[in-house]
Order: sequence, then C-alpha cells, then structure tokens
Amino acid sequence: MSAEVYLEKKNGWAVITIDRPKQMNALNTDIVEKIDGLLDQVEDDPEIRCLMFTGAGEKSFIAGADIGMMGAPCYQPKDAHYLITCGYKVYNRIEWLKIPTIACINGYCLGGGLELAMCCDFRIASKNARFALPEIALGIIPGWGGTIRLPRIIGEGRAKDMILRAKRIHAETALQYGLVTEVYEDVPALRAGAEALAVELASKAPIMTEKHWSVWPDKASRRRWNLDIWCWSGTRRALTWLVSTMHCRNG
Ligand code: HXC
Repeated sequence: MSAEVYLEKKNGWAVITIDRPKQMNALNTDIVEKIDGLLDQVEDDPEIRCLMFTGAGEKSFIAGADIGMMGAPCYQPKDAHYLITCGYKVYNRIEWLKIPTIACINGYCLGGGLELAMCCDFRIASKNARFALPEIALGIIPGWGGTIRLPRIIGEGRAKDMILRAKRIHAETALQYGLVTEVYEDVPALRAGAEALAVELASKAPIMTEKHWSVWPDKASRRRWNLDIWCWSGTRRALTWLVSTMHCRNG
C-alpha cells in the first residue's frame, strides 16, 4: 500500500483514495501505475461488488495530472508518451469494470481528475466541487479521453464551451448539465451519501457481468470496436509533442 494512493476494502465494496495533499491529489505516472495494480486486486476479489474513487481531504478530488512533473525540464516526449498511454489504458479499465463505480467528488475535479470521474458509472459531488478541463490554458489538450467522454455526457456544445474556453463550472451547473447526479451540502454529507450508494449498489444483482454486457450498449460497442481509436491515436501524437514543450513555454 502506497501512502499516496490506497485501496480500502469495506463490507461488499471498496474505495481507492488519492492522497497527495501538497499537489491537490494530482496524478503522476507512479500513481497511475499504482491504480492499475489496485484494479487487478479489485478484479480478483469477488467480494468487491462496487468501487469508489475519491480524493483525501475536503478540498480536492483530483486536480489533474501533475503539472510539476510534466513541466520539468527533464520531462521527455517518451515520458509524456508513456504517461498518456498508461492513463488511457487505466481509464478504459475503469470504464469497463464489471462492477459499478462511483466518483465521490470532494472538491477540485480538473483535467485528468474529471477524465477519471467520467469513466465512472456514478458521479456525485459536494457543493464545493469545481469542474474543468483546463488543459487549453496550459497549451495542451485533454489526453485521457476528455474530448471523447465529455461530449457524450453533457453534449457537444457544452463540452466545447468547457474545453475550448477552459471554463470552470460549479457543482450546481454540473448537476444541471448531467455531469453529476447528486450534489451534497458539504464533504461529510457527500461521503455519507457515497457510502450509502456503494452499499446499495453492492447489494444489487450483478448485471454488469460479461453475460449481461449487451445491456450496456455504450460499454459493449466501445469495448468491441474500440471506436475511439482513431481519435485516441491523434490525441496521443499531438499531446506527446505539446507536453514536451511545456517547460520551454513555462521557463
Ligand atoms: C501539481 C498542483 C496541481 C497539479 C495544484 N497543485 N494543482 N501540483 N499538479 N495539477 C499544487 C500547487 O502547485 C500548489 O503547490 C498547491 O497544489 C496548492 O495550489 P494553489 O494553486 O496554491 O491552491 P488554490 O489557489 O486553492 O488553487 C487550486 C487549483 C490550482 C485550482 C487546483 O492549483 C490549479 O488550477 N491547479 C492546476 C490544475 C490544472 O491545470 N489541472 C490540469 C492539469 S493537465 P505549492 O507547492 O505551490 O503549495 C491534465 C492533463 C491530463 O490533467 C492528461 C495528461 C496526459
């Protein structure tokens, strides 16, 4: 168990917590790889019937990818390429898990944080949550599926309004857009609501199994055809180059 990301098993469900308070729970390569390993544990454990993601503390869910890491002078295109590829794989794994998933969004939900939340089946938030894909403000593009999943969830117009303007929205607006399904007054209320939801989901029949895959046409078609592969390979090519120029622009 790493101190910066950990899996806790509860009664019938489990939670993965990102715990990097100094970086607002931003994700670096190591954390993304560790989430991959934790997903192995979740998939191998039949007692886990629902998985939650959250950030430690009351300020941030996940503030995106670690900007300090990506903007460092020693950060090479090959590092960016690996981070993008690894995140893409891990995020698809989350989306395709055969148990229901919940993003318990306790504050900033930015960039790669929002991209992770969008892989979950449920997104619920506290009132202090703020949502954005701010990559354009950094001179890069969303690289972990944001340009694909956000339009699916909130529609193309609103997604472009958020992505092309790096627009940050409040929890109430996210609720209105259908980006989240519940907004709680504060983080303790959110955590209680998230736990109740996890217990409820874990108690239901397992209808997301392989046998019932066709019940979910979105998951089934994406998995079978990998429809987004063309869009994805273009994103990876562009972002690998853009990330490698970050330190030049910042410096
Ligand atoms: C690393 C981060 C960080 C991040 C915040 N911090 N976000 N460190 N990566 N993404 C660090 C700050 O450097 C600072 O460290 C500390 O957290 C507190 O941040 P403040 O800015 O002082 O706090 P506040 O004013 O409350 O603002 C919080 C914030 C802001 C709104 C989250 O920090 C912010 O806008 N961060 C950048 C978010 C972002 O652009 N995310 C998208 C990343 S790109 P110190 O040491 O100074 O106290 C991305 C692409 C994904 O996600 C795909 C990649 C392949």
